[in-house]
Amino acid sequence: VSAPQRYSVYDQFAWCYSRGWSDDYHEQARRVFEGHVFPALPPAARILDLCCGSGELAASLLVRGFQVTGIDGSARMLEFAHSRAPGVRFLLADARAFHLDAAFDAVLSTFDSLNHILQITALETVFRNVYAALAAPGLFVFDLNMSDSFEMLWRGSIADVHDDFVAITRGTYDPAERLGRADITTFRSSGAAWLRSDVAVFEKCYSEDQVCGALKRAGFSNISPREACQLGMRGDISIGRTFFFATK
Ligand SMILES: C[S@@+](CC[C@H](N)C(=O)[O-])C[C@H]1O[C@@H](n2cnc3c(N)ncnc32)[C@H](O)[C@@H]1O
Repeated sequence: VSAPQRYSVYDQFAWCYSRGWSDDYHEQARRVFEGHVFPALPPAARILDLCCGSGELAASLLVRGFQVTGIDGSARMLEFAHSRAPGVRFLLADARAFHLDAAFDAVLSTFDSLNHILQITALETVFRNVYAALAAPGLFVFDLNMSDSFEMLWRGSIADVHDDFVAITRGTYDPAERLGRADITTFRSSGAAWLRSDVAVFEKCYSEDQVCGALKRAGFSNISPREACQLGMRGDISIGRTFFFATK
């Protein structure tokens, strides 16, 4: 079986993402990690930030004294990550095809990054790659959008208006295919004109049983799904969001 083509869709709107797209999420997710993840780790833990995007989490982990490696499939996202978090080792790689030695105390993957993996077999491959990268007894924590999120939030359009750019996201959800689609249109001021670009991002809706089953088959134990609102997150960002905890 040939390796999957590297996921690079975010190249097209990395500049927009890095302008605060995930700020609300990270402000709240940081409290989840402070309360439920960091206390379980050694002080200078080696952490892999899988699908690290433009480096918001990696930067905060670095400040916290952890040794951080970030992986993402988008070269443009990693350029922003480099400048946001110098001191982090960033690797351009696909989550479905990376191989790192078993040297990490924890692997974290945030902001529904793993919903971007569109087949359960591929998600299981990601879990196997994570398992191989963890030193026992390593911790794996990631969050996914679950059906309530797709059914309640992936509809209509949302506009994010700034002085020099506008981003409009139109969400749709196909319950038969269990597939969400976000069409993101941006208009960016070049001074004299507004430059338009369009990108479509797809996310797969998995059931808790599917995710837990794939984690188990990859070798994980102590698998514990916990709803974001139970962990203290609030607002739309918490709706239908589940954090999965598992150990090697
Ligand atoms: C919603 S963003 C989240 C970024 C970051 N984790 C955060 O919390 O802000 C999803 C990220 O996952 C990355 N991604 C999606 N599928 C991937 C894959 N198969 N391999 C590597 N990166 C992937 C994208 O390039 C993007 O940077």
